[in-house]
Amino acid sequence: MAEKVPAGGVPKGDPTKGAAIFKQKCTQCHVIDNSGKHKQGPNLKGMYGRKTGQAAGFSYTDANKNKGITWSEETLWEYLYNPKKYIPGTKMVFAGLKKKTERADLIAFLKEETQK
Ligand code: HEC
Repeated sequence: MAEKVPAGGVPKGDPTKGAAIFKQKCTQCHVIDNSGKHKQGPNLKGMYGRKTGQAAGFSYTDANKNKGITWSEETLWEYLYNPKKYIPGTKMVFAGLKKKTERADLIAFLKEETQK
């Protein structure tokens, strides 16, 4: 099932809580830093506000590259709910974050941290 953005927009999250969620669920495959290095997933520095599939030197699937949306609160809201639904054919193995508060917190963190 797709996850529509609520009428009032993506709820405000707590970036500190989001950092803990990122550590727990994402650092296995992602870093956010200026090293230019990737893990199993792309380095997410600069991701927010950018089009899909743009991390230099990372070999994305065509599905991810060609999705062609810009990463924002709204697109991350849908993507992180169910990545395989939002980008069919993605090689990101992550079932999704179903809890709205957790997603809001994680997005608040990603917005700050990837744009620093
Ligand atoms: C098991 C490894 C793995 C985990 C866990 C994982 N990812 Fe990913 N992620 C990937 C891979 C691999 C890709 C590239 C997918 C492709 O090319 O199809 C990706 C792609 C992405 C993208 C798209 C980047 C772009 O430049 O378009 C975002 C955003 C993202 N992941 C965020 C997250 C977040 C946030 C979490 C934690 C909730 C997470 N990922 C957990 C492996 C993972």
